[in-house]
Amino acid sequence: MNEIKPLPHIAVMKPYVPGGKLHGQSGPAVMLASNENPFGPSPAAIEAARSVAGDVHIYPDPDYRELREAIAAAKGIADASRIATAAGSDEIIHLLTQCYAGPGDEVLFTEHAFSMYRVSASAHGAAPVTAPETDMTAGVNAILGAVTPRTKILFLANPNNPTGTMLPLEDLKALQDALPPHVLFVVDGAYSEYLGPDYEAALSDLVDRRGNTVMMRTFSKIYGLAALRLGWAYMPAEIAGIWQRIRGPFNVNALAAAAGIAAIRDDAFLARSREHNADWRALMTDRLNAMGLNVPVSHANFVLPDFGSPGRAAAAHQFLKDQGILVRAIGGYGLPSKLRITVGSAGDNERLLSALAAFTASR
Ligand SMILES: Cc1ncc(COP(=O)(O)O)c(C=O)c1O
Repeated sequence: MNEIKPLPHIAVMKPYVPGGKLHGQSGPAVMLASNENPFGPSPAAIEAARSVAGDVHIYPDPDYRELREAIAAAKGIADASRIATAAGSDEIIHLLTQCYAGPGDEVLFTEHAFSMYRVSASAHGAAPVTAPETDMTAGVNAILGAVTPRTKILFLANPNNPTGTMLPLEDLKALQDALPPHVLFVVDGAYSEYLGPDYEAALSDLVDRRGNTVMMRTFSKIYGLAALRLGWAYMPAEIAGIWQRIRGPFNVNALAAAAGIAAIRDDAFLARSREHNADWRALMTDRLNAMGLNVPVSHANFVLPDFGSPGRAAAAHQFLKDQGILVRAIGGYGLPSKLRITVGSAGDNERLLSALAAFTASR
């Protein structure tokens, strides 16, 4: 018997629950559980990853200069030295928490926030604290009311996953201005591309407005590179300096870096993905509402029908699964009567909608 024990806060923490895969299914599976791009990656990104595959015996450029400059150029950011890249935005959440919060500190997020904020706070020994939401949105006052002298980081996904709701820009600015100086404000723009370039630029502007804000982004959603694990953040120079101390020197793999450069330059692919999402999100919202499933307005690439009770949502989840359709149960987010459904390809969306029409007609 050995006596190897994890740190006490690690011993009690709960792991992240991913969207999952359908195993042992006959026929094509419809995967609408993880907010992936139904078009897949940009063909230019696949080609770029292929073109470096023969060189994977060589370490990547530890500065990721070309990648950071491509991101800066595509997103209108003047200073690429304040862009950091990472193995998915999950790594950004972890690294920022590692830098700024530990035992005795609090990490704040909203009641139904993306669950990695809690996982990361717990993993670093900080206390996760939630601000209450009304109608699945936490207002500025509710968030400020949950700030204490121990709060070190406020994570806010805007739009949020899994609710699809968001605060208007004016509220983000009000929040940013009112936060006490010891709180780092991290705005998670994982779904910001679905709102368009003006909104994306406005998030970058938030970082420039004050020294207390980091904006983080991912290549996993609209850019369709989830499996490559690539995220980026735009931050004040001082925080970028701290980041450089603790990140792994090669934290982004060379295939991801090459694919990311090509993906972020492919404006046509981005626009096509955004339009498809807006069209189908509206259509799915209407048709699910017509089934009585009460879908709130979503600003992201998923919708959130309400089945009226946890039991009916669980039955719908299983009914869909039995037909090879995987959507996300979100009881773990405190929303057990709802299911989160990614906007997929036209064919997959139709399959989902007809399956749910059959479900709602029978129970
Ligand atoms: C709001 C939000 N932030 C961050 C992530 C993490 O993305 P990734 O680690 O794939 O970049 C997700 C993924 O679902 C998300 O919904």
